[in-house]
Amino acid sequence: MATTQNRTVSQRKILVLGATSGIAEATCRIWASQGASLFLVARNAEKLNAVAQDLRARGASFVEAAVADLDDTDRHPALLAHAVNAMGGLDVAYLAHGVLGDQTRAEQDFNSTARILHTNMIAPVSLITWLANFFVERHTGTIAVLSSVAGDRGRKSNYVYGSSKAGLSAFLDGLRNRVDREGVNILTIKPGPTKTAMTASMKGSEKFADVNAVAKAIVTAIDKRMDTLYVPFQWQPIMFVIRHIPERVFKKLNL
Ligand SMILES: NC(=O)c1ccc[n+]([C@@H]2O[C@H](COP(=O)([O-])OP(=O)(O)OC[C@H]3O[C@@H](n4cnc5c(N)ncnc54)[C@H](OP(=O)(O)O)[C@@H]3O)[C@@H](O)[C@H]2O)c1
Repeated sequence: MATTQNRTVSQRKILVLGATSGIAEATCRIWASQGASLFLVARNAEKLNAVAQDLRARGASFVEAAVADLDDTDRHPALLAHAVNAMGGLDVAYLAHGVLGDQTRAEQDFNSTARILHTNMIAPVSLITWLANFFVERHTGTIAVLSSVAGDRGRKSNYVYGSSKAGLSAFLDGLRNRVDREGVNILTIKPGPTKTAMTASMKGSEKFADVNAVAKAIVTAIDKRMDTLYVPFQWQPIMFVIRHIPERVFKKLNL
């Protein structure tokens, strides 16, 4: 059987932050079918209970859940310690929570911008800092984080969201450079547009990537201890081209 560091895949202990996210739920369904232990955190108790019940029915060997607004960084240390104690250890931490925000509103209102940056970057950085130090002490573990292709280059239609993900991706790059030598794997996940609640109202969303295919690629990337995952894969060359468009041209585009 495939192994993730010391434990077999089926014995893995996984913490999921933002467990009611469409992408997280689809990923957890795969892990549940493998018999993993899951500790789920989300802010909506009703949705969280439904997800937890579904994952138990699908074969997870252990499922416990905690309700928390992850914007509340003061709660993070106690929350994370509780999750580790409940599962009796931790192999993988998966961060999935995030908001798209309202770009038009944020352009006029700094507080809206600050809220998006807090939820998508500052709060994850608080969680990741605790988790990285926990794993470094044990010389093992994986932190897998949902960033976005939107963070690869700011553009006028979503640069507030994009900059929150750019900051998050850069933080993960630096952290990886620090902790890889300690045996800790940092996976930056950069999905392109994917069919979930976040994108349901967007034009053309019916053509977006299937959430189950995205989840499958994420599970494989974690198993292979990859550094970065563009998913679907074609977003890697697309973003390479977009990143290299000269600024004098890029600033005239309507993207
Ligand atoms: N879908 C895409 O096209 C796409 C593309 C690239 C990256 N991503 C990223 O992938 C991640 C998952 O997104 P998704 O597509 O699965 O969207 P989603 O279904 O809307 O999930 C977002 C989740 O974040 C949770 N959340 C937001 N703020 C929170 C907070 N303060 N505390 C706790 N939970 C909070 C939401 O909880 P509630 O349900 O309670 O609101 C929701 O469960 C996000 O980080 C997103 O930025 C998505």
